[in-house]
Amino acid sequence: MKLNNNTILITGGTSGFGLEFASKLLALGNTIIITGRNQAKLDEINKKLPGVHTFKSDVSDAGAIEQLYKQVSAQFPSLNVLINNAGEMRAISLNDASTGLRDLTREVEINLMGPMRMVQQFLPLLKQQNEAAIMNVTSGIALMPFPVSPIYGATKSGLRSYTKSLRVQLKNSRVKVFELIAPGSSTPLNDQFMDMDGINANLMMDPGKLIDMAIAGLGKDKLEIYPGLARVMKIMSRLAPGFLLKQASKVGAKFMETAG
Ligand SMILES: NC(=O)c1ccc[n+]([C@@H]2O[C@H](COP(=O)([O-])OP(=O)(O)OC[C@H]3O[C@@H](n4cnc5c(N)ncnc54)[C@H](OP(=O)(O)O)[C@@H]3O)[C@@H](O)[C@H]2O)c1
Repeated sequence: MKLNNNTILITGGTSGFGLEFASKLLALGNTIIITGRNQAKLDEINKKLPGVHTFKSDVSDAGAIEQLYKQVSAQFPSLNVLINNAGEMRAISLNDASTGLRDLTREVEINLMGPMRMVQQFLPLLKQQNEAAIMNVTSGIALMPFPVSPIYGATKSGLRSYTKSLRVQLKNSRVKVFELIAPGSSTPLNDQFMDMDGINANLMMDPGKLIDMAIAGLGKDKLEIYPGLARVMKIMSRLAPGFLLKQASKVGAKFMETAG
């Protein structure tokens, strides 16, 4: 699809991939709208990237999505691209009995229910445009379990499944459905994992390079985009899934035994 003159809504645009998408797509000549939960971070982006439109909105809150839709559709009726990027990843020991039931599923609400609700809310508007796209940001962890983050892994493989179904259901529309299968990358999301046993920080991809590849994929209509090691993970997940799980199980091995 064309890479300029789009109106693009990016959830979670205040750091990491979302911020890279916002600055690079703005530079290409697009109208950019970002969301996030933290007003101070949004104000910071307003200063850093004047021209980017910011809305405080939590993707895990259905009411906030309805409110966001009212504001965005009124101010930006030509919205034609939705990038479901907002996400959270936590290390969770399932052996820790003190984890509350509500807190346990927080990533499901953000990473899985968030994109599903965003799509449902914005799809009628996207369908009105001549050319439109939805990009869901999944992960190499959608292709394999990552035991130290068991809920996160479930959300990303769930989002991958949903994205494939969505693509089938929209095949006769003008809305293209993209999936960015991102490998591990040096963003704030990963800070908590950097001191864990079994982690290899050298394998983390530069977020700027990763998002350059994502944007190039969008421009070439590559519906599934596998930057860097994600392509290797795709092959390994088919040829040697047991080996991949064994390697992934080394990360945070001590933490996972924590009983709380
Ligand atoms: N970094 C990696 O290694 C990696 C690999 C594969 C996939 N991914 C995926 O890439 C996406 C972006 O991750 P990142 O690495 O860029 O993380 P990040 O730097 O931590 O950024 C996450 C962004 O999402 C926002 N956010 C979090 N929860 C939100 C919510 N409930 N509602 C609205 N915004 C929310 C954050 O802002 P506030 O906290 O202010 O709301 C922030 O702007 C995520 O979906 C992640 O799962 C990351």
